[in-house]
Amino acid sequence: MDNVDVSEILVSEKEIKAMVEHTASLINKDFGDEELIVVGILTGSYVFTADLVRHLTMPVIVDFMQVSSYQGQTSTGVLTIKKDLSFDITGKNVLIVEDIIDTGYTLKCLKEMLLKRNPKSLKICTAFDKPTRRTNTIEADYAGIVIPDKFIVGYGLDYDGEYRNLKDVCVVSMVGGN
Ligand code: IMP
Ligand code: MG
Repeated sequence: MDNVDVSEILVSEKEIKAMVEHTASLINKDFGDEELIVVGILTGSYVFTADLVRHLTMPVIVDFMQVSSYQGQTSTGVLTIKKDLSFDITGKNVLIVEDIIDTGYTLKCLKEMLLKRNPKSLKICTAFDKPTRRTNTIEADYAGIVIPDKFIVGYGLDYDGEYRNLKDVCVVSMVGGN
């Protein structure tokens, strides 16, 4: 069985803190005093969502969704909702908060689905972005830190359910064998 090594820090706790504050300042500037419904995508974004909302200055409602997606034979694919929103977003400003955008597939499906509920606006914020992995044209309106094509953990991100509690973002590498 492979052992997992997570000792390589890619983004430090200090850099993450600066990213959160900068991202929040952009959102504050864009929305002013308008109410914002912040939708964290479980599970990975719970840490970023908690940090981000504490730097937002407008009236905020925090909600969470949990979805899973798989690319079927049709180009639209399928999105399964494991937990839906508790609030009606019709006519509201909505900000989706993700931990990381990889292929962009999950967000593409989610965005299409939420737009059908007729929000006033729908924007996407992600803590980390792997643009080189993208298979569609989805882009975040607020993309915290661009990272290379490596598998990362920490700050809410997991490998097989583990390491979400790390304060820094670390690179996963496999060591040893059998
Ligand atoms: P996408 O649909 O390919 O963009 O999938 C994005 C989701 O895959 C994220 O919300 C994460 O849950 C997961 N993911 C993608 N890259 C990583 C990574 O490097 N570490 C941990 N989870 C990842
Ligand atoms: Mg996720």
